[in-house]
This record gives sequence, structure tokens and C-alpha cells, in this order.
Amino acid sequence: MALIALFSASGSPGVTATAVGLALTWPRPVLLVDADPTGGSAIFAGYLRAESAPSSSLVDLALADHHGDLTTAIAEATVRMPGSDTATVSLLPGTRSHGQARSLLPLWDTLGTELKALEATGQDVIVDAGRLGLAGGPEPLIYGADVALLVTRSDLVSLAAARSWAETLLTGFEAVGATDSLGMLLVGEGRPYSAREVQKVLRLPVTATLAWDPGTADVFAKGAKAPRKVGSSRLVRSLAAAQTAIRGCVAANRDQLAVRGTGAMA
Ligand SMILES: Nc1ncnc2c1ncn2[C@@H]1O[C@H](COP(=O)(O)OP(=O)(O)OP(=O)(O)O)[C@@H](O)[C@H]1O
Ligand SMILES: [Mg+2]
Repeated sequence: MALIALFSASGSPGVTATAVGLALTWPRPVLLVDADPTGGSAIFAGYLRAESAPSSSLVDLALADHHGDLTTAIAEATVRMPGSDTATVSLLPGTRSHGQARSLLPLWDTLGTELKALEATGQDVIVDAGRLGLAGGPEPLIYGADVALLVTRSDLVSLAAARSWAETLLTGFEAVGATDSLGMLLVGEGRPYSAREVQKVLRLPVTATLAWDPGTADVFAKGAKAPRKVGSSRLVRSLAAAQTAIRGCVAANRDQLAVRGTGAMA
């Protein structure tokens, strides 16, 4: 159905925890892509608690892309993520080190096209794009996403950083004619500001909000032992509402595109 990209302006608001949580509760087969240029293969080391680096990662994809064999390389680099009751969740592990990030720059465009083509196989894609503005960042995946969400908390420090990026993002999405794809995902709404207040200040729509639930978030972000039944936690309940909102946003954007396409043909 869609490519969904999550990223942050500063701090560590919960991009990885949210991406992993969304993937594990997604109702259709989904591929989670660790495209955070910070390196360290955070999902592999965190949620999967793997002690060694992944045998194959985005850097191998960059080499395969160079040799024109990206599709096979994606399938080979993908590992299965346990923990979903709903559908198959796969992971494309990230780079081992930040030093490798620059070598990924030529990859992002072609990877974006390949990831979008996965739709034909019934898979959605969720991208952990890390923090904005880092060298080697996956901008083409962000600007090409069906839904691109700036993940932020609602305290003043987080909002100040988000505001400094909001305008840049809006200009960038306007340039590619995709402003409807851009929104925010608020982690811990009401701590202290509400979605309405945040929306007003940043002039970006809050597409989804997630409950404040550090215990469950640590399971997704760091592979911590679950403090209780994860399925009935506040975070998982809010993830269900968030994915409904995100899927609704994808559908609305596609309807808009279809209307515009019809208009153009008329
Ligand atoms: N909904 C939430 N409620 C409470 N704590 C959360 C929530 N989401 C994430 N956290 C916590 O915030 C911390 C950072 O989370 P995470 O690693 O997902 O952030 P990040 O934005 O990916 O950071 P980085 O930029 O360093 O990759 C973790 O301790 C995690 O448990
Ligand atoms: Mg992260």
C-alpha cells in the first residue's frame, strides 16, 4: 500500500521505537528499513538484541545497485522480525557505522523506487530515517514517501527544534508537489502541549499521537524485557489508532492524486 517515513529534528523523541512498534502492529506484511545514517544498526542491536553486526546491510545494497542487482540484494539482506501477531515483518538492517553513510547517497533514489515497487507484492514499507540533516541522510525516501512524519515530543525544547525544521520541510515538500504527505507524529501528547497547540505553532498537521509509555517503548527501542503484556499496553493501543490515521492519510492522498490526474486528463 505505502511507504511511510519517520524522522526527527533533534533529541531522541522515539523514531526507532515508533517505527518498530508500527511495524509489529501493522495489519499487512511490512518491511522495516533502518535508514538512520547515524549507523550502529540500531534496530538489529536494539529490538533484535543481536550481538554481532548484520551480515548484510545497506552498504551491500549500494554495491549491488552499482552492479544493477538491487532487487536480489534487498531480498538477501532482509531478516525476519519476530514479535508480530498480525503479519510478516521483515527488517532491512542499517549501516554498521556512520562513516558508511556517505556511500549510501547514490542508493537512496533507486532504493526508493524498489521499495515502492514492493506494493505489487502486497508489502508496505516503514522507514526509520533517523535525524534530519545528517550527512548521508535518506532525503529521497523522506520526500518520496506516501506519508512523511516528523516525530517530536511536545515539550518546548523539542518543539523549538521541530519548528526550525518545519519550514524547511514545507518548502521541500512544496517543491516536489507533496505537501499533503507531510505531517507530525507526537510522542506523549499533553506532556505538556496538546496536538492542537503543537499544530498551531508549527503549522504542520499532527497526523498521529502516541501514548507516553517508557516501559513498552524500551521493548521496541532497546529490546528490553516487557514489563507486562505488551499487546494491552497504552503504547500498543495508541499505535493501533496511529496506524489507522496513517493509512487514512495515505488513502486520502492517493484519492487527491487520482482526482488531480482525472482533472489533468479532462
Ligand atoms: N511513546 C513513548 N513513551 C515513552 N518513552 C518513549 C516513547 N517512545 C520512545 N521512548 C523512549 O525514548 C528513548 C529514545 O527512543 P528511540 O531510540 O526510539 O528514539 P530515536 O528518536 O530513534 O533516537 P535516535 O535519534 O537516538 O535514534 C527510549 O528510551 C525510548 O524507550
Ligand atoms: Mg533511532
